[in-house]
Amino acid sequence: MIHEGLKKELQGRIAAAIIPREAAVDVMKELQRHYGWLTDEAVGEAAELLGLSTLQVEELATFYEMIYRRPVGKRVIHVCDSISCWSVGGETIMTQLQKSLGVETGGTTSDGIFTLIPCACLGNCGEGPTMMIGDTLYGRVTPERIDKILAQERAALDCLT
Ligand code: FES
Repeated sequence: MIHEGLKKELQGRIAAAIIPREAAVDVMKELQRHYGWLTDEAVGEAAELLGLSTLQVEELATFYEMIYRRPVGKRVIHVCDSISCWSVGGETIMTQLQKSLGVETGGTTSDGIFTLIPCACLGNCGEGPTMMIGDTLYGRVTPERIDKILAQERAALDCLT
């Protein structure tokens, strides 16, 4: 259950939207940040806040790649598998990540830190191959850079705990 402060904050954002549905992604992202993923409870809370049915929230949630309806690690790694990145070696990035993390695509590391997910274009096509970890975009990624990037992300997480 979300606390009163977050509830008021979300109600404020919904009130500022032209129609409540416009704030749906924002609301789902905040609830996801709170729970770690968009739990059934979060779907119910989003529906109540937005004045939508849970089915409508489910539909919106499944449409957006960055909304997770299952548990994920603390940092989700999205690897672009669209054409521009693919043509400059995107597949090698995914292969190296699988190797470095010891997981298959869609998997989460045993320490619960990283989840590896392919995704559609991240809007950074000219700088591919591209991946995104949490909110950080990485361009011109090479297999050689992967371990260093993962170490940086782990260190950043350690600083937060
Ligand atoms: S094709 Fe990869 S960022 Fe656009």
